[in-house]
Amino acid sequence: MDLYEHQARGLFQEHGIPVPRAEVTDSPQEAREIARRLGGRVVVKAQVKTGGRGKAGGVRLAADPPAAELTARQILGMDIKGHTVGKVMLAQPVDIEAEFYVSYVLDRAAGRFLAIASAEGGMDIEEMAASRPEAVARLHIDPVEGVTSAKAGEIADAAGLPAQTVDVLVRLWQVLVREDAVLVEVNPLVRTRQGRILALDGKVTLDDNARFRQARWGDESVAHDDPLEAAAAAKGLNYVKLDGEVGIIGNGAGLVMSTLDVVAGCGARPANFLDIGGGASARIMADGLSVILSDPAVKSVFVNVFGGITACDAVADGIVQALDAVELTKPLVVRLDGNNAARGRAILDGRAHPLVQQATTMDGAARRAAQLANTS
Ligand SMILES: Nc1ncnc2c1ncn2[C@@H]1O[C@H](COP(=O)(O)OP(=O)(O)O)[C@@H](O)[C@H]1O
Ligand SMILES: [Mg+2]
Repeated sequence: MDLYEHQARGLFQEHGIPVPRAEVTDSPQEAREIARRLGGRVVVKAQVKTGGRGKAGGVRLAADPPAAELTARQILGMDIKGHTVGKVMLAQPVDIEAEFYVSYVLDRAAGRFLAIASAEGGMDIEEMAASRPEAVARLHIDPVEGVTSAKAGEIADAAGLPAQTVDVLVRLWQVLVREDAVLVEVNPLVRTRQGRILALDGKVTLDDNARFRQARWGDESVAHDDPLEAAAAAKGLNYVKLDGEVGIIGNGAGLVMSTLDVVAGCGARPANFLDIGGGASARIMADGLSVILSDPAVKSVFVNVFGGITACDAVADGIVQALDAVELTKPLVVRLDGNNAARGRAILDGRAHPLVQQATTMDGAARRAAQLANTS
């Protein structure tokens, strides 16, 4: 789970990383009050779980409390890369002398953590790593030893960060470990004209597998920003919303991942990831279909099932019962293969729903679903 900037800031503060004074609100009137408490001039920052808010106009300076109210009014409700702004954070403005980048991220391939740091922070680190790789230091961290002062010194040296940042580098590692994060990022970490080191922005991704021991996030840890994801989660479905037009249902995460690829390879974009797992019951099929059909972007649906322990006839029964429970409003392409495939196909043929068609291969079904999505 990704945290909002203000939540990341809260964690930084608890672990002794210096941050500017700041408060969060969803109301422009309250923004005015907060600005007054913070000394008048404030930076108004959209709270959305995506980067590049500055460029998108979601980070703005307000000169006084009335301006803070106006700016908050403008930013609240704004759309930033598909995320609607529900809250703003008002922060004390800082006189920036230099901006740095620091992060720790889990490097799964290496089985280690990776420290990434640069003396040229503030901008997009991916762009930076591509255009000026020499300006970005990358050092692996032994997960058992962690970031000691000595290691933090090495990171700072490699990136050309001032020695003053060593303490922050150590504390940032403590945030990662104690809060069960797989990513902590500060961009920018700044040195102010007064010589202080401050974290001006923060991104933290928590490890969902450790949710059980991070009780403080409570329900929030399962909160979904996307309404379709929220509806799917409420039904216990393993669903992720994507940007395309072909709704996808499959059994097994690996098969669903390859289904997304095959659909993309056929020139259409998948609208979602949905793994209905092993027991493809009528109930799960109906729930899955209803979530996918309620996505206005969906133009066709592709059900891709490889029968293993759950045989295709059971899945076909599930689909038939789901068709009685949910009104099918978009064409559905079904590919059944594996255990009892012939019986499964016969069951679907018997139902003869006008919007349902079958294909015998995954590629064929993907082509058909892509075609239907692209022509409707
Ligand atoms: N409290 C602050 N005082 C002064 N400048 C700030 C402050 N917070 C952010 N900024 C400036 O705005 C830029 C963008 O803000 P940031 O929080 O990094 O958002 P994002 O990375 O989403 O664009 C920062 O790089 C920094 O230059
Ligand atoms: Mg930033």
